[in-house]
Amino acid sequence: MNVTDCAALVTGAASGLGRATAEALAEAGAKVAFLDLNLEAAREVAASCGGDAIALACDVADAASAEAAIDAASEAHGPARILVNCAGIGTPGKIVGRDGPMALEDFARVININLVGSFNMLRLAAARMKNLEPFDTAERGVIINTASIAAYEGQIGQAAYASSKGGIAALTLPAAREFSRSGIRVLSIAPGIFGTPMLFGLSDEVQQALGASVPFPSRLGQPKEFASLALHMISNVMMNGEVVRLDGALRMAPL
Ligand SMILES: NC(=O)c1ccc[n+]([C@@H]2O[C@H](COP(=O)([O-])OP(=O)(O)OC[C@H]3O[C@@H](n4cnc5c(N)ncnc54)[C@H](O)[C@@H]3O)[C@@H](O)[C@H]2O)c1
Repeated sequence: MNVTDCAALVTGAASGLGRATAEALAEAGAKVAFLDLNLEAAREVAASCGGDAIALACDVADAASAEAAIDAASEAHGPARILVNCAGIGTPGKIVGRDGPMALEDFARVININLVGSFNMLRLAAARMKNLEPFDTAERGVIINTASIAAYEGQIGQAAYASSKGGIAALTLPAAREFSRSGIRVLSIAPGIFGTPMLFGLSDEVQQALGASVPFPSRLGQPKEFASLALHMISNVMMNGEVVRLDGALRMAPL
């Protein structure tokens, strides 16, 4: 799909991978709505893009908030043909830690934002995309979710996070199959370790050690490399129903 003049929704667009993707889409000529819980930060980023970019408050895990944001974006840019779900949290915690079993709400919160939130956006965006006129490629839209290599090699302390990302990986094929009749493609990206504010909270030493653990290139991934894959997925009509690892051949150890 050619992104020029297409309306695009990017969640988690105030920071990290979502920000880089939203900026790359805007640069490529899409009309981008930067959706984030952090409206102030989303506004700053969208303003620095200029053009048609707008920022909207959106809690992806809340049905009413997501619907209101999608409707507001549609009013400004027309109905979206592109959704990139990047909003997420990475709260760590052992299943049974020093203080006993993980609080059930802690597990549920990660699942709710990462998995239910991605599903929420997907269902609302796809319902609208289905009614659009197809392009000459028979495509109506493209939806990209963000999983993680933790979906496959979750480490100790990543039970909730890995479960949420495993759910996103498992959602990809049934969603792509269901929407195939409507010409809506669904894909996921499973990043390895990327240099984003989610990781910048760690010490320099830990960040360097994480980078060094990547076989090649031995460094943290750059958000623009994630954005570049997302844009390729949008442009390549044959890509569908697949979770693509973007990890420099990293296979995470148990700890
Ligand atoms: N950075 C990595 O190494 C890495 C690796 C694998 C997967 N991921 C995934 O990539 C995605 C983006 O991560 P990042 O590193 O850019 O993180 P980040 O913390 O830089 O950005 C996440 C953004 O999501 C927003 N957000 C959080 N909860 C939200 C909600 N309920 N509704 C709307 N917005 C919400 C935050 O405000 C923030 O702007 C996440 O899903 C993360 O799990 C990141």
